[in-house]
Amino acid sequence: MTLKLEPLHPLFVAQASGVDLTQPLSQEEIKDINAAMNTYAVLVWKNQPLSQAQQIAFSESFGPLDIGLKRVFKRKERLDDERLIDISNVDLNGELHRRDSPKNLSSFANQLWHSDSSFMSPKAAYSMLHALVIPSEGGNTEFCDLRAAYDALPANLKQEIKDLSAEHYALHTRIVLGDDAYTDEQKKAIPPAVWPLVMKHPGSQRSVLFVGVHAHKIIDWPIAEARIFLSDLLEHATQRRFVYEHQWEVGDMVMWDNRSTLHRGRRYDLNQRRELRRTTFNDVPEANLAAA
Ligand code: OGA
Ligand code: MN
Repeated sequence: MTLKLEPLHPLFVAQASGVDLTQPLSQEEIKDINAAMNTYAVLVWKNQPLSQAQQIAFSESFGPLDIGLKRVFKRKERLDDERLIDISNVDLNGELHRRDSPKNLSSFANQLWHSDSSFMSPKAAYSMLHALVIPSEGGNTEFCDLRAAYDALPANLKQEIKDLSAEHYALHTRIVLGDDAYTDEQKKAIPPAVWPLVMKHPGSQRSVLFVGVHAHKIIDWPIAEARIFLSDLLEHATQRRFVYEHQWEVGDMVMWDNRSTLHRGRRYDLNQRRELRRTTFNDVPEANLAAA
């Protein structure tokens, strides 16, 4: 079958169908999905009951999977394969986490606008998030289009930011949320990464306003001035007209390009279960990102 796409937003995001994600993909299908990602940046697949192994196999057909922040936390995890990132509020015994658990802290950090692993070099290319259990209310995931955000900047701002770079730091979101109890070893596990504020997205050749909550400094700027400017740019990028809000259903698989979008989770009742699984691969030369 061939890939079918139905736009879900005026600027980006399509519902994709016609490909069975539980089965190995052909090179043709991979190219078509890459082409669709270049255009839409976020693809929503419905009714894809992926086992853990199937999610890994599907994701790995695009690139070698990365564990991201697990380099810092080194916690015992619920899912056996470390390449699966457990986006849930459930502990090792299958019970809900305590409200103030370290795991929930990570989930709260996911509620700030970010691009996965922008604090690393190489940074994330695609992430794939698959829903298994969803709360009765809340817990949506929002995405914003950083290409549209760049295009809509006034000319003077485009000029001002064209040669600026920001430093992205893995623990910044935790510090923002009141947690700075990290050992020196943890702080050094992921050194900060520097990215230009404006980048060309390789697949679409569109310019992207690369901001997000991991960006905590602008190179050669005073910190306070940089933080205010970064927060203004983030506010610009996340205006409602650039945002798609995904309301999860069990079996959904949403994949997004971290090089052209930001995302954030939304609040929900922590007394209800929410279980999703994420896979992510980085923007490395061996990734399979060529389009049809
Ligand atoms: C993620 C993430 C948000 C959410 O999985 O990378 O940021 O809604 N998730 O759970
Ligand atoms: Mn994320």
